[in-house]
Amino acid sequence: MFNPLPVLETSHLILRELRLSDAEDQLEYAQDDEVAAFGLWKPQKTLQENLDDIQESIRHYAAGDYFSWAVEHRADHKMIGRIQLGAYNAADARADLGYAYNRRYWGKGYATEAAQAVLKIGFESLKLHRVGAKVLPDNVGSIRVLEKLGFQREGVVRQAYSLRGPYEDLLCYSILAPEWREMYP
Ligand SMILES: CC(C)(COP(=O)(O)OP(=O)(O)OC[C@H]1O[C@@H](n2cnc3c(N)ncnc32)[C@H](O)[C@@H]1OP(=O)(O)O)[C@@H](O)C(=O)NCCC(=O)NCCS
Repeated sequence: MFNPLPVLETSHLILRELRLSDAEDQLEYAQDDEVAAFGLWKPQKTLQENLDDIQESIRHYAAGDYFSWAVEHRADHKMIGRIQLGAYNAADARADLGYAYNRRYWGKGYATEAAQAVLKIGFESLKLHRVGAKVLPDNVGSIRVLEKLGFQREGVVRQAYSLRGPYEDLLCYSILAPEWREMYP
C-alpha cells in the first residue's frame, strides 16, 4: 500500500499526487473527444466535472484500491495527463494500468516513460505479480505503448464496450513480474 503516494521522477516527467488545482489542465485534455473515446470514458467538458473526477480519485486513493498519479511535464510545469494502477487486489497481487495524455504531448515517448516508472514501483515496491490493461482494437498508439512495455496480448473480451455507439471488443494485455524482471534485471 502506498501511503503517501510516492513521487516518481523520470527524464521528462514528474509523477505525483493529484491536486484539485490540476482540474484546469485536466479539462484541457479530458474534454477532447478523441482522448476520451480511446481512454474508455466519457469526455468531461466542464471544470466542475474535472474537479469532481479528481476528488473521486483522491477518495479512491484513500480507499487503497486505486493509485492515480498526475503526470507533470518538467520543462513546461504543466499537468499533461494521468496514469493509474486501478483494481488493485492485494491477495492476488494484481492491478490494471490506465493512462491518458493531452494530445499536444502525444508521440514524444511520454506515455511509455511514465508507465515504465509506474510498473517499476508496482512490481518492485507493491510486489505485484500481474498488471493488466484493456484497450480498443483501433487504439494503435496505446497498443504500441503496451508492446514497448513488454505486455503480451492474452485475448479479447467480446463486445464489452459501448460508449462510442455499437458494441466493441476490448483487447486484454498483461505483463507478469518474471517478464518484467527479464526485461529490467
Ligand atoms: C495512447 C497514448 C497514451 C499514447 O501516448 P504517447 O505519449 O503518444 O505514447 P508514446 O509516445 O510513448 O508511444 C506511442 C507509440 O505509438 C505509436 N503510434 C501512435 N499512433 C500511431 C498510429 N496511428 N499508427 C502507428 N503507430 C502509432 C508511436 O509511433 C509510438 O511508437 P514508437 O515509439 O515505436 O514510434 C495517447 O495517445 C493517449 O493519451 N490516448 C488517449 C487515451 C488512451 O488511449 N489511453 C489508453 C487507453 S487503453
